[in-house]
Amino acid sequence: MKAVSIKEPGGPEVLEWVEAEDPSPGPGEVVVDVVASALNRADVMQRQGLYPLPPGTSPYPGLEVSGRIGALGEGVTGWQVGDEVCALLTGGGYAQKVAVPAGQLLTVPEGVGLVEAAGLPEVTATVWSNIVMTAGLKAGETLLVHGGVGGVGTMAIQIAKALGARVVTTVGGPGRAARARELGADEAIDHRTDDFAKHGPYDVILDVIGGDYLERNVRSLAADGRLVVIGLQKGLEGSLNLAEIVFKRVSVHGTTLRTRSKEQKAEIVAEVQKNVWPLIENGSVRLVVDRTVSMADAAEGHRLMEAGGHVGKILLLNDESASGESASDGSASDGSASGGSASGEAAEHRHG
Ligand SMILES: NC(=O)c1ccc[n+]([C@@H]2O[C@H](COP(=O)([O-])OP(=O)(O)OC[C@H]3O[C@@H](n4cnc5c(N)ncnc54)[C@H](OP(=O)(O)O)[C@@H]3O)[C@@H](O)[C@H]2O)c1
Repeated sequence: MKAVSIKEPGGPEVLEWVEAEDPSPGPGEVVVDVVASALNRADVMQRQGLYPLPPGTSPYPGLEVSGRIGALGEGVTGWQVGDEVCALLTGGGYAQKVAVPAGQLLTVPEGVGLVEAAGLPEVTATVWSNIVMTAGLKAGETLLVHGGVGGVGTMAIQIAKALGARVVTTVGGPGRAARARELGADEAIDHRTDDFAKHGPYDVILDVIGGDYLERNVRSLAADGRLVVIGLQKGLEGSLNLAEIVFKRVSVHGTTLRTRSKEQKAEIVAEVQKNVWPLIENGSVRLVVDRTVSMADAAEGHRLMEAGGHVGKILLLNDESASGESASDGSASDGSASGGSASGEAAEHRHG
């Protein structure tokens, strides 16, 4: 097979499309013949040498794929060779084949193309595990989601609305605010010109930013509020006013999906299949795809993600996959042309 190798820590140019050894399925695993994968910020950090990998992780980046099952390991039941699937991975998705524990497989939701399905596992598992399984968001509560038009944010807005929550989000610019409202956000705050803390209180906050957002996040939580920090784009340190925590009885959580055990991942994946897939199949939630690039040119995808301005997910198509899926499959959900972009927002973001 071929895979995207990280030659050495560095910029996007260190990503190389190379010959690699085919994986074989261990007990309880399947090998997926990959049709597409998708980018996550963690891939960029891994490429830069800034992401400590859990022991035993594939050296190739990639936290999610879609494709067809090519081989079954010992003891796998309920799946057949040829089944169309998508999967949550600990690594190894930027490749033509990947071995994955069967508990991390999901069906392809009805109405979703096989390429597009590559972008579902990481955002749906992240959002469901954090806002529901960790923070216990309920109908009628208010959720603040930072980065509402990023990969995680676009999914968080829609799932929270489907659960009956009120959703407030932060975005970088008026065009991006309009996109967030189209996705269902009740309020979209421009973080470049406004302070989200003035618009609280919030029952639950999903924070992909970290750093000095900690103090304002905690300050703007309602009594019995829950903050879940999952991203550290603004840094590793922030200040915490313990009086706010004690007197408002709030809780502060931090989580990562990748470092969870395979049993925990399987539990989350099963909850996602049970609770989120019906929302996708009934049309209340859809994957927002910014664009699809060739897996062999993963470097271009990384450049786009680092430049910012994308809306939703960037997909990576294995254009050497035997089945000949086309990139247009990957853009169906968002209505934006594959290989195109959310160009208005991108321009606003970069120059605004
Ligand atoms: N812990 C976990 O399990 C887990 C899982 C998935 C993702 N993550 C983390 O979550 C973060 C988001 O991932 P992603 O895939 O959604 O990335 P993404 O698509 O690149 O989105 C990042 C978003 O952050 C927003 N942003 C940047 N600076 C901001 C600020 N100062 N205030 C508010 N928003 C700001 C950007 O919005 P604007 O351009 O509109 O400003 C952008 O939409 C990453 O840090 C990732 O590592 C963690």
